[in-house]
Amino acid sequence: MALLELDRVSKTFRTPGNGSVHALDGLSMVLDAGQFLALQGPSGCGKTTLLLIAGGLLEPTAGSVRLNGQNPYALTPDRRARFRAETIGFVFQQFHLAPYLNVLDNVLSAAIATGAKDALPRAQSLIARFGLEPRMRHVPGQLSTGERQRTALARAVLNRPKLLLADEPTGNLDRASADIVLNHLAEFAQAGGAVLLVSHSEHAVRRAQRVIPMRDGKAVPPPDPAAPSPAPKQRE
Ligand SMILES: Nc1ncnc2c1ncn2[C@@H]1O[C@H](COP(=O)(O)OP(=O)(O)OP(=O)(O)O)[C@@H](O)[C@H]1O
Ligand SMILES: [Mg+2]
Repeated sequence: MALLELDRVSKTFRTPGNGSVHALDGLSMVLDAGQFLALQGPSGCGKTTLLLIAGGLLEPTAGSVRLNGQNPYALTPDRRARFRAETIGFVFQQFHLAPYLNVLDNVLSAAIATGAKDALPRAQSLIARFGLEPRMRHVPGQLSTGERQRTALARAVLNRPKLLLADEPTGNLDRASADIVLNHLAEFAQAGGAVLLVSHSEHAVRRAQRVIPMRDGKAVPPPDPAAPSPAPKQRE
């Protein structure tokens, strides 16, 4: 069974006085357990919108979302929040760490909705694994960007989600910090989880098993091998 299935999903934002923005335009995709899929496209093509919709955080204008066999938007807000906490780990583009909580408490905050018994030892071991032990009692304002990114990743995987959604998780990171994050995404998929990464970074998407290019809210179809190749350009 597909873990995530998007069928002709569209999203139009209506901003009073500024008209409408068609952020997603009939995008379909399927992601199975154990797969690492990347969507690559330029700024503004709808990547974050797609992840928010896939993650049960933003209802599409049209089309359907099935996540672990359920339509998250058919659930009541409370049940949807619980379902999200148990099913999905989300690494947000802007991290969204709580500014007054230290690294340990930020990571542990993911367990509030699930009440997982082993949350504390698991949080500590993830913090050690991501090289954050010396910063465990620091708040986000005292961390480097890479440390914040790794804190956000540790929080995202605390509940052992089935699906990890990662929004530009290596943006602003140096190569070494980016590789720590990318290695973890690849290991997460090898261990049977599903990963959906969105990025414009070539280095990041190269780690995925499959890359879907995106433009203007659509998945760009692969070239048709039967189609005639385009005629060479005439010289002016
Ligand atoms: N809440 C909103 N209200 C109105 N327009 C929005 C809203 N959110 C996104 N958009 C618009 O939808 C389009 C897609 O935005 P989105 O954030 O999904 O792009 P993106 O591919 O993630 O870009 P980036 O690589 O810069 O993060 C953009 O044109 C953006 O301005
Ligand atoms: Mg974005």
